[in-house]
Amino acid sequence: MAGNLAGRTAIVTGGAQGIGAGSARALHAAGASVVIADVREAEGEQVAAELGDRARFAPLDVRDAAAWARVVAGAEDAYGRVDVLVNSAGIAPVAPFAEYGEDAFRRALDVNVTGLFLGITAVVPALRRAGGGSIINIGSAGGFRAYPLMTGYITSKWAVRGLTKVTALELGVDGIRVNAVHPGQTDTPMTAGANFGTAHVALKRVGLPSDIAGAVLFLAGDDSRFITGADLVVDGGDLAGSADWASVPDRN
Ligand SMILES: NC(=O)c1ccc[n+]([C@@H]2O[C@H](COP(=O)([O-])OP(=O)(O)OC[C@H]3O[C@@H](n4cnc5c(N)ncnc54)[C@H](O)[C@@H]3O)[C@@H](O)[C@H]2O)c1
Repeated sequence: MAGNLAGRTAIVTGGAQGIGAGSARALHAAGASVVIADVREAEGEQVAAELGDRARFAPLDVRDAAAWARVVAGAEDAYGRVDVLVNSAGIAPVAPFAEYGEDAFRRALDVNVTGLFLGITAVVPALRRAGGGSIINIGSAGGFRAYPLMTGYITSKWAVRGLTKVTALELGVDGIRVNAVHPGQTDTPMTAGANFGTAHVALKRVGLPSDIAGAVLFLAGDDSRFITGADLVVDGGDLAGSADWASVPDRN
């Protein structure tokens, strides 16, 4: 099926499941060739096999600069160019502040921030060779306010916004756009078993990976050609209100 991304190539980290897999499916359906990059090899291979033509899996730990170089080179070898990077790999260690600990805090920043920095660093030369491109960082509604029990995660997601804006500022001259998509609670393996409630969410439901993928698709393609350094919140109206609404009787 031809789409508005026909002839383009996208690398999607965290593509083995959740929001990354949803984004890979949407980009592929729009005509892009897709490289699914993840530490979860079996699941990543399965998503690539499901997509079939124009899809491949590449093993990647986003904390590893050498692995990043291999993924980008492999994408160019296979498909001739790289146009889009979706940074969706992430982790969310959960614990009270007193028990969070240095290790979990450093891991959250390493994967959720340094991993994005290394990805952008690795992909920029390839995007330049392609004449420009689009980088989409998956942040979080937690990058606009705090949720308890997630010290490292919340800190990392606020940092994603800074990383997005400074790289947008510097890379615009190369025709490279950098934007962030900030999901609210979304039904993925990361949130399995968690329930933040939806009473205060305008649309009264949690998100699906395909809801987030719609925003990723928009930012990947030319319809968003004058948008860079932006924060696109995709949360069903969660941030629009206040969690206090959870205690207000439902008038709907
Ligand atoms: N699910 C939500 O409610 C929600 C809300 C806001 C933001 N987000 C963000 O969306 C992104 C995707 O989350 P998700 O819900 O799909 O989570 P998920 O756990 O379902 O998927 C995350 C993927 O990232 C991969 N990954 C983890 N560490 C990695 C590493 N070091 N190198 C390479 N891959 C690695 C995992 O293997 C997994 O496939 C994350 O950045 C997350 O913080 C999710």
